[in-house]
Amino acid sequence: MQLESSRKLNARSPAHFRRRLLQWYDANKRDLPWRKNTNPYNVWLSEIMLQQTRVAAVIDHYQRFLKRFSTVEKLAKAREASVLAAWSGLGYYRRARMLHAAAKKIVREHESNFPPTSAELRNLPGIGRYTAAAIASISFQEPVAVVDGNVERVLGRVSGKHIGGERVWEFAGQLLDANRPGDFNQAMMELGATVCLPHQPTCPACPVSNFCRTRGALARVEKPSRQKKRTIQYALDFRDGSVFLVQRTRTASLMASMWELPELNTTSSVPYLTLRHSITVTDYTVQVVRQPAPQGASGKWVPVSRAGTLPLTGLARKILRKAGII
Ligand code: ADE
Repeated sequence: MQLESSRKLNARSPAHFRRRLLQWYDANKRDLPWRKNTNPYNVWLSEIMLQQTRVAAVIDHYQRFLKRFSTVEKLAKAREASVLAAWSGLGYYRRARMLHAAAKKIVREHESNFPPTSAELRNLPGIGRYTAAAIASISFQEPVAVVDGNVERVLGRVSGKHIGGERVWEFAGQLLDANRPGDFNQAMMELGATVCLPHQPTCPACPVSNFCRTRGALARVEKPSRQKKRTIQYALDFRDGSVFLVQRTRTASLMASMWELPELNTTSSVPYLTLRHSITVTDYTVQVVRQPAPQGASGKWVPVSRAGTLPLTGLARKILRKAGII
């Protein structure tokens, strides 16, 4: 996608687009904790948490995580179990393991300083093109564009075409404001998250609607849902202030080494409580049955006062909260 063609489409210059977008961002940006400090550690942490997780769910976790691990050195020195415990509830635990591995690499190979270019940042575990560009532009003012799902939708609507792949990155790069790359990137994401919404964009509130070919009318390509449904049961054995928990194996593909309630093989018992939980492509109906842990389950009794410090799975935490135990 050449910018020439979109300029023809709307007969306005990119400089005007940038000015309008940034003025809007300066006046309307959400007051989010990671916008108070652009040091690369804070930006990195927020960008990793924001992958696959909603802003509202990230805010508390972000603040708690930073209190616990305020610098990259502290994170690098931590035990993996403590990092996973601080991540508990955010899901996609591979992100936490990669974060930990990258912190160690930064301390070991870069004297605890983040490399300041997107190209070097991409050599760190868990940092791909998007995250590298976000950190480099927000913390180091490198003129490099970011593309996430929001930006892709905004650019698709502005240009009036379903563009994808490398062409979106090129288009984003041509529009980028090289004087304020971090703010421009965040403004594009913010526009997608708050105005240029997937279903009902609020075009009258849009600062760049003059430049937009579609004003929200570009038909969305609906992806068929890949979600599967499953019912599972867990045993809740809670006595004398302690709860019986089991540890997932170190080699489990998801949430390895984390603690949870023992799973039951059947779904025939009457549940004490029921809740819904989604993990990647599966929507679970989770039934919790009050009964002794299954015979032979190799777990341990954990005093409730200590349960909060164990790396619990997000689901275990949700169950124990709903049962009023933690
Ligand atoms: N989504 C992910 N990171 C973001 C940021 N820095 N600003 C706005 N939306 C985002």
